[in-house]
Amino acid sequence: MGDTVLFKKTAIIGLGLIGSSILSAMRDRGLTQTIVATDTDPSSLNFAKKVGLIDEIAPDIDSLCQTDVDLFIIATPTRATSAIIYQLACAKADGNIANTAIITDVASTKMSIYQAVLGACEQNNQPSDWLNFVLSHPIAGAENSGVHARNPRLFVGRQFIVCTDNPPTAKAHFIQKIKILWERIGANVIIMNSQRHDEILAYTSHLPHLLSFNLTYQLASHDDNLDIFRYAAGGFADFSRISASSPVMWHDIFMDNKHALLKSLDEYEANLATFRQLIEQEDSVKLIEYLTTARHARRHFGHMLAQAQLHKATHNPHLPRENAMTDQTQRYHITPSQAIHGTITVPGDKSISHRSIMLGSLADGITHVSGFLEGEDALATLQAFKDMGVRIERDGDKVTIYGVGVDGLQAPKDALYMGNSGTSMRLLAGILSAQAFDSVMTGDVSLSKRPMERVAKPLRQMGAVIQTTGEKGTAPISITGGQKLSGIEYALPVASAQIKSCLILASLWANGTTTIIEPEISRDHTERMLTAFGYPVNTDGNKISITGGGRLTATDITVPADISSAAFFMVLGAIGGGEGLTICQVGMNPTRTGVIDILKLMGANISVSNETVVGGEPIADITVKPSDLVGIDIPEHLVPLAIDEFPVLFVAASCATGTTKLTGAKELRVKESDRIQVMADGLGTLGIDCTVLEDGIIIDGKGVAGERNAVFGGGHIDSHHDHRIAMSFAVASSRATDEIVIHGTQTVATSFPNFAQLAGEVGLNISIEQGE
Ligand code: S3P
Repeated sequence: MGDTVLFKKTAIIGLGLIGSSILSAMRDRGLTQTIVATDTDPSSLNFAKKVGLIDEIAPDIDSLCQTDVDLFIIATPTRATSAIIYQLACAKADGNIANTAIITDVASTKMSIYQAVLGACEQNNQPSDWLNFVLSHPIAGAENSGVHARNPRLFVGRQFIVCTDNPPTAKAHFIQKIKILWERIGANVIIMNSQRHDEILAYTSHLPHLLSFNLTYQLASHDDNLDIFRYAAGGFADFSRISASSPVMWHDIFMDNKHALLKSLDEYEANLATFRQLIEQEDSVKLIEYLTTARHARRHFGHMLAQAQLHKATHNPHLPRENAMTDQTQRYHITPSQAIHGTITVPGDKSISHRSIMLGSLADGITHVSGFLEGEDALATLQAFKDMGVRIERDGDKVTIYGVGVDGLQAPKDALYMGNSGTSMRLLAGILSAQAFDSVMTGDVSLSKRPMERVAKPLRQMGAVIQTTGEKGTAPISITGGQKLSGIEYALPVASAQIKSCLILASLWANGTTTIIEPEISRDHTERMLTAFGYPVNTDGNKISITGGGRLTATDITVPADISSAAFFMVLGAIGGGEGLTICQVGMNPTRTGVIDILKLMGANISVSNETVVGGEPIADITVKPSDLVGIDIPEHLVPLAIDEFPVLFVAASCATGTTKLTGAKELRVKESDRIQVMADGLGTLGIDCTVLEDGIIIDGKGVAGERNAVFGGGHIDSHHDHRIAMSFAVASSRATDEIVIHGTQTVATSFPNFAQLAGEVGLNISIEQGE
């Protein structure tokens, strides 16, 4: 697989399913050079040697302790593990284990292992991290056991818990190395302390096993148990499956995790008593309430579980290529160039493209869209509606949507995958919350970090049952269908067209009127397009009202060129040499033109011509000539009107004379990346002084009046899965002294698939490198 070797010699104790699967995965990926093993069963050892899983057999643990071993894996049940730890400590005290060798284990309980490590260190009068012991636990298993059942993919997409405790059992760099090992074999590593591990496992694994053993035992003790087993339907079969596991293993686990297990058992008994009472007293209302709560929780949990597997299998960077689409890394190499000129047309507006698919799908009749953005984000929306049964045909930028009406969407078979697109996920959350069916939405690494409670919270107020199942109010989003929504009045906490649009869309199905109040006006494409589809929307300043229960009538949509994409070329025209640039037929919706206002305030030579209106949206040609830019304090009211253009405006500010200050733009921190920090880091790499503020940035421009001096040095930039970061630094290269290499440029395809081609046409020396 071409992975780098992590360990020279690995020694393993125990060739059961887990141990031999770890070795098998390490072998496949070339993570260790040599493997020595010991096991109480000689036939397992001989077999492993014969099939090349191990290189050397050690008859016992003492002969396994060799000074050239740099990794010990104890892959035995919990109780045996504790005893082995003492044995390894003796070997280390005798000088038979190298100081830098790491020891790890895979036992299912962790407090007892932690105590054993501390005990062994203390016995040898050594500090707690003397053994370099990293406590691990893979949440993986299989029906079959032993070396014959080994599976190098057993850990792919599964969780591997690594415990860090106080006092520590290993130094940070040893923990990091083990974390890398588990990640390389495909697992997702989660760090927690041993106590927390045992508490969580008590609920998620140990208690369910105990209950399963208990129920099977209860039925087995009945005199007529054969009949019960004979007629036991699915419920018993499902519930009892796990009680067929090893009694000795579970005895050990129950004993070792006694404290946490008893706590969870007490809680269980209390709940059981409540259920008993509700049935005894025939309290139907309460009983239904309890059962419904449990059902909802289980459905969400089922979604989380299914999606976690799907998501991880698709996005783990250590998986084979065919499973890791978005991990294909691309780089731009750009050498400085001065002569910038040309006339170009940039692709269709992303926001409008998304909405054309959504409203076209919900309309009665056929909608024709032209100028549709063929970027991955808009295509994610298109695919989602296809997945919900809408017939959509596309020929390049021409799309035909056979609308199904507001009541015609069908349940998708799988989770809807939104890729990098926050707009798709947030707007769809509104639509899906009002459908009769359940749904789940997932996204890529960047989208999975972005806040989704901002839409979930007001949707809940409308009556939606929606859960952000990620760690921090993030995707995957799980929605339970069949709810009746009601109109609300909602004051948006931030000026966000995505939240506003989500609520507007949900209110199409709500009882009564929904009123949304924006703190500042944000883009209004949803309102405009609904009106074009014949659905009344009432806008009064920053207050928008919409009443549910209406229908949409199909209409044709012409998508104007995206001003957010044009912005890269506006700045390039202003900071580059040559004759400047003209960008044709750009959308000039007043809720989007903040970038022009800001560039004008900075002294840019911008002119607007051929103004007209197409499909309810104003458009015009924009010409930008090389300009002497000056630093400004950006007026806060322009922030929502230029929200996506700040990365490239920071590049303009770097080329200006004097200082530019942006405030009131905290939202930039939750875009496809933290655009304040990521831009500050990148600009810093290229030699620009910036001060990062909580809600903005101060940039010390390095421009000189009347000159086209190089203000940036060369260097490597990480785009952090953010298309606009990548394109902004490409623009910067026109004023750089040396080559700029931008990493992770594959995301440019989300909004501007032909960016590099157009940039090359107008004079940037840009080449694309594909691959890792
Ligand atoms: C968008 C709204 C903006 C913008 C995004 C597209 C839209 O997000 O950043 O690229 O299409 O509604 P917020 O509304 O969250 O600011």
